[in-house]
Amino acid sequence: MYPIVEKRVLAPRIKSIKVKAPHVARNVKAGQFVVVRVDERGERIPLTVVDWNRKEGTILLVFQEIGVSTIKLGLLKEGDNILNISGPLGNPTEIKKYGTVICIGGGVGTACIYPVARELKKAGNNVISIVGARSSNLLILEEEIKSVSDEFYITTDDGSRGRKGFVTDQLKDILREGRKVDLVYAVGPAIMMKVVADVTRNYNIKTIVSLNPIMVDGTGMCGACRVIVGGQMKFACVDGPEFDAHEVDFDSLMSRLRTYIQEEKRALELLQTKVKGGE
Ligand SMILES: Cc1cc2nc3c(=O)[nH]c(=O)nc-3n(C[C@H](O)[C@H](O)[C@H](O)COP(=O)(O)OP(=O)(O)OC[C@H]3O[C@@H](n4cnc5c(N)ncnc54)[C@H](O)[C@@H]3O)c2cc1C
Ligand code: FES
Repeated sequence: MYPIVEKRVLAPRIKSIKVKAPHVARNVKAGQFVVVRVDERGERIPLTVVDWNRKEGTILLVFQEIGVSTIKLGLLKEGDNILNISGPLGNPTEIKKYGTVICIGGGVGTACIYPVARELKKAGNNVISIVGARSSNLLILEEEIKSVSDEFYITTDDGSRGRKGFVTDQLKDILREGRKVDLVYAVGPAIMMKVVADVTRNYNIKTIVSLNPIMVDGTGMCGACRVIVGGQMKFACVDGPEFDAHEVDFDSLMSRLRTYIQEEKRALELLQTKVKGGE
């Protein structure tokens, strides 16, 4: 059992929980994730480890409530327990001195760039961060990311904060200035990562994305997380989750993410009926 020691609402439908999970906290590195099972009937869902305290034995998870499992997780209160947390899983980010690195986070993916930006900064890089959301009320971890960035930009789709437009508009502005950029690291919706890859391809800048396919076991056994990278099939949980963005087949990723859309809708309706019925 993994007790929740702190819970915060970061934005509408986006929450953070600090959970006691000493075996993860001891070993986790930036870029890794855990697989969480909320209760005995729960499915296994992957969530990035956003922060950790090795001494306390705690990890921080940030999640968007989009379906049954994330909604069930969001219903838990401080003091409640999560049934299983496996990890840390996946390969850590390669942290070294690249020079100038642009870290891009879209939506809840913003939480996933925080530990990477922080470690890249510690390694001596000049870190430029761009975070984007649909609207200002959906921006998360602004202060945290700002504190580990040399330059920090916000974009919102509706222009309610920062530059009006997408994170890729800000990226294009920076690259058009002719600045030397050694690495771009992006996490967000698949379509956002695809556009980032298209932009940086033109400038020949190494670009890493952290992919979010459906995962089940997270250990390379089930094949659910297969993605096409460089024309080859890879398992995101063990070969990734980070890959060279210029090699990723984003169209197949987006199509596979929609595979269970009807089942997910039905499961959500069932949960809503149960909640209304007070079960
Ligand atoms: C390595 C990795 C790290 C992730 N980190 C985060 C994070 O830090 N915060 C966060 O909010 N989300 C994260 N995600 C996505 C998160 O796992 C899904 O949002 C979650 O599983 C949705 O489950 P659900 O039951 O709430 O929604 P559902 O209604 O079941 O699904 C909604 C959508 O979520 C995706 N999804 C569903 N089940 C899974 C699954 N088992 N694995 C992956 N995607 C799934 C599909 O696109 C689906 O259409 C991560 C995904 C991966 C692969
Ligand atoms: S999640 Fe099962 S092989 Fe990757």
